[in-house]
Amino acid sequence: MEDCVLINGGKRLEGETTVQGSKNAGLPLIAAAVNLGGVRVLKNIPRISDVFDFLKILSFYNVKSTFVDNELKIDSTELRNPSEADFEKIISLSTKIRSSTYLLGAVLTKLKYLRLPKPGGCKLGTRPIDIHLSALVTLGGRVKEEHDYYIIELENLVEKDIDFRYPSVGATINTLLVAINGKKSIIIKNTALEPEVNAVIEYLNKSGKSVERIKNNIRISPSERNKNIDFKNPSDRIVMGDLLLSAIATKGELTIKGVNPIEIKALIRKITKSPCNLYINNDKIIYSPHCVLHGIIKTDPYPSFPTDLQAQYASAMLASGGSGQIVERVFGSRFEYAKQLELFGGNLKISNRRLSIYKSCLHSATVQATDLRCGAALVIAGLSVNGYTRINNLHIIDRGYEDIVKMYNNLGADLKRIE
Ligand code: UD1
Repeated sequence: MEDCVLINGGKRLEGETTVQGSKNAGLPLIAAAVNLGGVRVLKNIPRISDVFDFLKILSFYNVKSTFVDNELKIDSTELRNPSEADFEKIISLSTKIRSSTYLLGAVLTKLKYLRLPKPGGCKLGTRPIDIHLSALVTLGGRVKEEHDYYIIELENLVEKDIDFRYPSVGATINTLLVAINGKKSIIIKNTALEPEVNAVIEYLNKSGKSVERIKNNIRISPSERNKNIDFKNPSDRIVMGDLLLSAIATKGELTIKGVNPIEIKALIRKITKSPCNLYINNDKIIYSPHCVLHGIIKTDPYPSFPTDLQAQYASAMLASGGSGQIVERVFGSRFEYAKQLELFGGNLKISNRRLSIYKSCLHSATVQATDLRCGAALVIAGLSVNGYTRINNLHIIDRGYEDIVKMYNNLGADLKRIE
């Protein structure tokens, strides 16, 4: 039997919850810790399979890591390039996760030579890494493309300003991690504004580096300082959004604690367009029933509506009895989940980058998680309908959610993991 989650749905979510550490900040923070060198401690790192896979990849570079609860100790004092046999294992692991690209920021400046596997991760259309690579070439690197990896060399860093054609999150962080090792100031223009980038900047600055955000540009000045500090990974804003949307889908009542609600301002703005009780109190969001989601969502880089929440929004829209449209503007193809929502009785229509959602009456279903956020969206649909829903490919959900079963069961849901 395939790994799956069984949901006995139709129960209102109720109670108080905290949110796991961020996946998309945690992964580049690990890369930053390796780049800074020595033995470093990161707190609040989620125990998710993307993190374990990235740590496994790093282990082939002789980076040792130990987890105690959510505290991660990373020792990269004896960093070295992997053996030929290990490189084959790295290639196969990298097909699973997109964040293998953070190897570049983690190890290149120390090792000066890297074979970077072509990354995997969710199937969201073509996901090139040309912005990362062209920035690297500007900084004096040499890149050669092979069948399933790039050979990257960086002998001497050339301090030149960079202007991104698109504010890519991964490219911003990788370029930043390479540029902090320069001897002169560099400005990177048109960088990503996502909170995950700011978490990395904060970590670097607290560690003695000199990185300044000037609107959507970043100035990196040389700094020989290298302090060893423990750093806390922020909470996961996408999981915060999931929780809010699952409360809407189940007509529930939740208090979500220890979060920074401003990070999902775009979602909160959309939700509060419908009459509902949503209160924000510093690091808490309190939601009580009930609201019907309507309207048009357009995804774009931060601070616009996050592409990583659109599937869950579509699911909650259907569950709440609403209707509307989603326009995906970040990735070429991100509506695979719509076919799965149709199996719940959802009435949806895809036309290019636009998904139309019509008022529907959902029922339980057997479905497949085709990508990480598709999985999160299907869980929300399953929570909202009476009867048993089965979601196959639980391992895809485990890529980004520490324990989705426990997270929802603590709020009164009835989920069971079957492996
Ligand atoms: C990160 C997140 C991902 C999120 C995305 C957008 C991680 C591990 N993943 O992904 O969950 O959905 O930000 O918020 O943090 N692009 C290029 N060339 C490049 C790089 C990107 O064309 O070199 C394009 C991509 O194909 C995509 C868009 O830019 O269309 C966004 O990509 P990017 O911001 O790089 O996303 P990731 O860093 O991969």
